[in-house]
Amino acid sequence: MATVSTVTTEPRIAVSATKLLINNRWVDSASGKTFPTINPATGEEICQVAEADEADVNKAAQAARKAFEAGPWRRMSASERGKLLNRLADLIEKNEDDLARLEALDNGKPYQVAKTADLPLVIGCYRYYAGWADKIQGKTIPIAGNYFCYTRLEPVGVVGQIIPWNFPLLMQAWKLGPALAAGNTVILKPAEQTPLTALRVGELILEAGFPEGVVNILPGYGPTAGGAIARHPDIDKVAFTGSTEVGHLIMEAAAKSNLKRVTLELGGKSPNIVFADADMSQAIEGSHFALFFNQGQCCCAGSRLFVEEKAYDEFVDKSVARAKKRTVGNPFDPKTEQGPQVDKDQFNKVMSYIETGKKEGAELLAGGNRVGNRGFFVEPTVFANVKDEMRIAREEIFGPVMSILKFKDIEDVVNRANRTEYGLAAAVWTRDIGKAHAVADRVRAGTVWVNCFDVFDAAAPFGGFKQSGIGRELGEYGLSQYTEVKTVTMQLPN
Ligand code: NAI
Ligand code: MG
Repeated sequence: MATVSTVTTEPRIAVSATKLLINNRWVDSASGKTFPTINPATGEEICQVAEADEADVNKAAQAARKAFEAGPWRRMSASERGKLLNRLADLIEKNEDDLARLEALDNGKPYQVAKTADLPLVIGCYRYYAGWADKIQGKTIPIAGNYFCYTRLEPVGVVGQIIPWNFPLLMQAWKLGPALAAGNTVILKPAEQTPLTALRVGELILEAGFPEGVVNILPGYGPTAGGAIARHPDIDKVAFTGSTEVGHLIMEAAAKSNLKRVTLELGGKSPNIVFADADMSQAIEGSHFALFFNQGQCCCAGSRLFVEEKAYDEFVDKSVARAKKRTVGNPFDPKTEQGPQVDKDQFNKVMSYIETGKKEGAELLAGGNRVGNRGFFVEPTVFANVKDEMRIAREEIFGPVMSILKFKDIEDVVNRANRTEYGLAAAVWTRDIGKAHAVADRVRAGTVWVNCFDVFDAAAPFGGFKQSGIGRELGEYGLSQYTEVKTVTMQLPN
């Protein structure tokens, strides 16, 4: 049984923004509808939030178009845009305690984690892209003949951004940072499970002084508000993070409407490979973190944990012991390592995969049950003797369920690691530099971590091979997904 923390009350947290942000004004939805956002630690409603649908997306798209074509945003110098982004970063930093609390309340992640992991990455991301704003430049190209040829990197235009609930503030930063640095205007839809921090940042965006219509924030459901963004004829690009299933729908909608540009950051089933020559205590703790961090709700979670035969038994025993020690409970208790899953659907999905694992014959060595009788808490769960064909080894569980597989040698593990439709991330633990590079070379994934996991920095690109996505976020590559290249060629006098 996992350790359960004892604090049972949340601090009082003020919620100030619950409407739609369109054209720098807080408005009700056209339909007047609202929806509840739930505290996953208790299952109780926190508050009602305005529910956007197609009519609101149309209104926001008009505002964003006008801001793009005619507003001060396009006439503003690039360094001014950078200054606004820096001002936003400063305001987020000033309010980081409150934002971390609100994130913990709406999402269920431990407040300490939000404060020490999410918020610094959020602030770092806005600052990183603030720095890029006046460094987005083209080239002069020596083409044949008597011509002057140069390129410009121009904004794509009006950008729709649909984000998930697992890192609400961070996903907002990954989306807004590069889009705004490059001079686009934005319609952002937060996930229906976690709209509150996105809206709070909307207030800070107004306080920072962004011009009208540059950032519009529309909470609402996927098939309605999200679908309206994906198929809108006057939105130039859609950036999406979420399930691979919906990624397919987004691309289809883009294809059927106006060929809007599409970037996707989707699911994963990332191999985490532990060789017998690794520093075992580092590999065990690192693999625990790789899977259980954020309640297991990470697209890049190390959810196929391959351990070399020779070290398998020891690794399993110690990983089970570590999982049993993991503290689960109230997100506001400083001792809590793991909060609830984000909502009832995710809770049910995770519990049903645990049943599947048992039926498939995997060996359940830790956890497997709900924790407590309210909220959506799941025990840290470990399955050993997992086989490649089992559903728990092939499908994204997105919860605190570790699957440990056994491998013989590097040839065996690389082949099996690549036998998946996904390709988001991979990790390898070894003291042998040759093996580390061989795995990094051969594994088909957008990110490879060696003797570490989940190391993120705004400067380092992130994204997927295969069905884990299209395009990259973060770094200069992330920025390039928000610009169009224009080639200008001028004849010179002879
Ligand atoms: P989802 O893909 O349905 O939701 C993600 C975002 O897309 C939300 O903002 C949602 O409102 C929106 N959306 C949903 N349907 C849409 C549609 N038809 N058109 C436009 N937008 C739409 O993911 P969901 O249902 O929250 O979780 C299901 C599974 O997806 C999870 O169990 C997990 O396996 C995976 N997932 C992966 C994430 C990642 O970081 N790559 C994040 C969240 C979920
Ligand atoms: Mg969904």
